[in-house]
Amino acid sequence: MKAAALFRATFGVAPRAAASAPGRVNLIGEHTDYNGGPVLPVALGVRTTVVAGAADSGLLEIVSTRDGRFERIDYRENRAGGWGWGGYVAGVMRELVTAGAAPAGGARIAVASDVPIGAGLSSSAALTVATAKALATLARVPLRARQIAGIAFRAEHDHVGVRCGIMDQTIAALATPGHALLIECASAETRQIPFRGRLLLVDTGVRHDLATGALNRRRSECEAAVARLKLELPELMWLAAWPAAWLARLKRALPEPLRSRAVHVVGETARTRFGAQLLARGRLKQFGQLLYESHESCRRLYECSAPELDLVVAAAKRAGALGARLSGAGWGGTALVLVDRKREARITAAIRRAFHRAYGREPPITVVRASAGMRREPVR
Ligand code: GLA
Repeated sequence: MKAAALFRATFGVAPRAAASAPGRVNLIGEHTDYNGGPVLPVALGVRTTVVAGAADSGLLEIVSTRDGRFERIDYRENRAGGWGWGGYVAGVMRELVTAGAAPAGGARIAVASDVPIGAGLSSSAALTVATAKALATLARVPLRARQIAGIAFRAEHDHVGVRCGIMDQTIAALATPGHALLIECASAETRQIPFRGRLLLVDTGVRHDLATGALNRRRSECEAAVARLKLELPELMWLAAWPAAWLARLKRALPEPLRSRAVHVVGETARTRFGAQLLARGRLKQFGQLLYESHESCRRLYECSAPELDLVVAAAKRAGALGARLSGAGWGGTALVLVDRKREARITAAIRRAFHRAYGREPPITVVRASAGMRREPVR
């Protein structure tokens, strides 16, 4: 059922505002965003749609096509992650209240989404960005895309407690079709880069839970690394700002595992900036090499891969893909594979075969179309 139909069926009236936002895949720049480095994501064709209407209860009344369960939540309470997906919506509402952009008297919301959850495609940012846009529209407050991204980021980071960076919400809000977005996360500066590659997504089916998981631990390790490196370079604010030419000094200054984490972040930062230049010049073959290097660094140094992801990347490489790597936080989820159209069928078949041999099932493989960011939707 679509969001508007679910809204009518649940609340008995028509919604007053609607918006949608996409999932994303990150081409390169993993675990760099919360370290002040660059990322290079692309918005996907799969989207989350949120329709909204006024509520007289002063509360949030929410329902989703995923489970069809209706919930009423008092968003003024601070219950962090304790509300399930409603916590994300509550976080957005609280941020909108702070910004003076919330609908008065609460809101009713219905959600429909085709962004898979826990697949590393950022279903949560699709939800928070679409919710912020729909509720601001309902309140008749025109917020800019960057303001929406900021509200969505703080909803996840400050309210739900996922210590993510700004990548997911920024691409969900600012994406344009046919382009990747280079985001320099320390300054929030962005640049649209035409993306003409043929990209496949391989869903390993391995699911992870970000909020309670390893992402928060990695972030603490990065902060510990910065604290120690400040003894060497007192003005260091972000791990990604450590000069790449001083790698030996960094290694001397840090014990394991901080050393490995930091070497990944500094190397990944250089790879991502170089990768963006290559992509802008259409040098897909060299760009693909960087994807393999990035995966290796994620696997060995950041230790955020999974056997299923490693298997997909190895099979893609053997079959002649231009590049492949895990994408998103890691520890499961999705691998991306950059292919030459002529070899696509062969590579797809090789990945399917290798995965089936190891795990007795075939992973879903889809083709990426670099799509648009958030938008208002007609209320139907
Ligand atoms: C998650 C976070 C992002 C980013 C990636 C890793 O998807 O939400 O902000 O940190 O992990 O690159």
